[in-house]
Amino acid sequence: MKKEKNILCIGAGYVGGPTMAVIASKCPEYKVTVADIDEKKIKAWNSDRLPIYEPGLSDLVKGVRGKNLFFTTDIAKGIRESGIIFVSVNTPTKTFGEGAGKAADLQYWEKTARAIIEYAEDSKIVVEKSTLPLRAAEAMHRILHSNTKGLHFEVISNPEFMAEGSAIEDMQEPDRVLVGGMRTANGKKAMDRIVSIYSHWVPKERIITTNVWSSELSKLVANAMLAQRISSINSISALCEKTDANVGEVAKAVGMDSRIGPKFLRASVGFGGSCFKKDILNLVYLCEYYNLPEVAAYWEGVVKINDFQEKRFVKNIVRNMFDSVAGKKIAVFGFAFKADTGDTRESPAIYVSKMLLEEKAELSIYDPEALDNAEKDLAGAKGRFELVRDPYKCAKDAHAVLILTEWNEFKKLDFRKIYESMEKPAFIFDGRNILDHKGLYKIGFNVFPIGSSKMSHFK
Ligand code: NAD
Ligand code: UGA
Repeated sequence: MKKEKNILCIGAGYVGGPTMAVIASKCPEYKVTVADIDEKKIKAWNSDRLPIYEPGLSDLVKGVRGKNLFFTTDIAKGIRESGIIFVSVNTPTKTFGEGAGKAADLQYWEKTARAIIEYAEDSKIVVEKSTLPLRAAEAMHRILHSNTKGLHFEVISNPEFMAEGSAIEDMQEPDRVLVGGMRTANGKKAMDRIVSIYSHWVPKERIITTNVWSSELSKLVANAMLAQRISSINSISALCEKTDANVGEVAKAVGMDSRIGPKFLRASVGFGGSCFKKDILNLVYLCEYYNLPEVAAYWEGVVKINDFQEKRFVKNIVRNMFDSVAGKKIAVFGFAFKADTGDTRESPAIYVSKMLLEEKAELSIYDPEALDNAEKDLAGAKGRFELVRDPYKCAKDAHAVLILTEWNEFKKLDFRKIYESMEKPAFIFDGRNILDHKGLYKIGFNVFPIGSSKMSHFK
């Protein structure tokens, strides 16, 4: 097989694995290899139990693995044999030095650039799939061209817009695919090659080509604007709780304005996920770096409202449970940052659980997919918690149930049975507004939704 039909993806995580499985399934003439330094992860990708849970992923991988999709730790071989290299390594928020707490930590990303220089024997297209700060492609270009072998590398920005829980669907039918490159002859050629891959299944009008800086910035702005909508409605949820307005009704009335639209207006305990907070803070850092403090403060407000929402949720629990949760069993339903994923990165459940443990509550946690991650997230947390694989056992003898993830299965639970097994008075704090609040109140629960009046049996 010719090298230009060999694609390597460095980074076999939530993005690398699913994106490459989709490319392999849509482009049978390409050989797609996904490489990672994490041996355990690669072993899992090659097994029946994939390292991540994502609807539809397992069947998709089974269909192409060993045919034109391969998972390996041999990064050097992958680099040597591939003409196109996607880089989808993690780019977390920096925790040390200049820009700590805001800027992106580019150490993993830079290591891949250095590996490419070390092992490449000919020129290549390098595609930024990771979310990176503005002008990162330029830095990548500089590092790659410090090679002494006379090789040419064309850097393309091709950010990923999929959301976890719907990754496969999002990739198979994306709203748009964004390909950014240099406006040089080589840049255009490289962009055409990336566009030609996506053209196998994405209609031409949905594939946008831009300059590389616009592409990098668009990714950060898309995430910032999505998160901004959630913080906007969450800020209004606080006002609704004080005024007897109902945030669901407000969101519906506002979202029916076709200029605003209904999506991403679900009030919640707060947004989580590995990217919203990190990408907004990255945007804030860039604005500060370019001396735009007003713009930085504007976007930082989105994160501040999210922190406020999480704190408010915990305060509400403690205040309404007679100002103390010490020694009380509290059942946490849902630990993933959203439904249909086992991912718990930046999940509001982590913050809420840790705060309640500090208040000396005894937590019992149930999640259909995220208990292994929950265990890691709470390792070292002070206090008592147990992970329970059955929601009814989880709630037995509890004083309160908290809904922290919008799993569909929670709506189908027998809450009468749950109520009967709980301590009284029994409380429900629905951090996702997914349950039938009136029905729960009738059963006997004291119900605390987000953004609407509480339904309490105490006067
Ligand atoms: P992840 O942590 O799940 O995966 C990253 C992988 O890269 C890990 O398996 C890690 O072992 C590997 N890695 C790190 N350094 C390496 C190296 N030098 N060589 C080989 N492998 C290396 O991260 P993710 O969620 O897939 O995110 C990757 C990037 O995509 C981030 O920049 C993120 O912002 C962006 N993104 C993520 C999502 C999402 O939903 N998770 C969506 C869009 C964009
Ligand atoms: C988000 C974006 O939606 C993707 O386009 C982007 O590619 C991705 O980040 C990324 O760059 O990582 P993701 O974080 O996987 O995707 O999931 P979302 O569906 O955006 O949900 C994020 C958080 O917001 C979740 O905690 C979710 O429960 C919460 N949310 C979402 C709300 O609280 N209310 C809403 O109305 C929508």
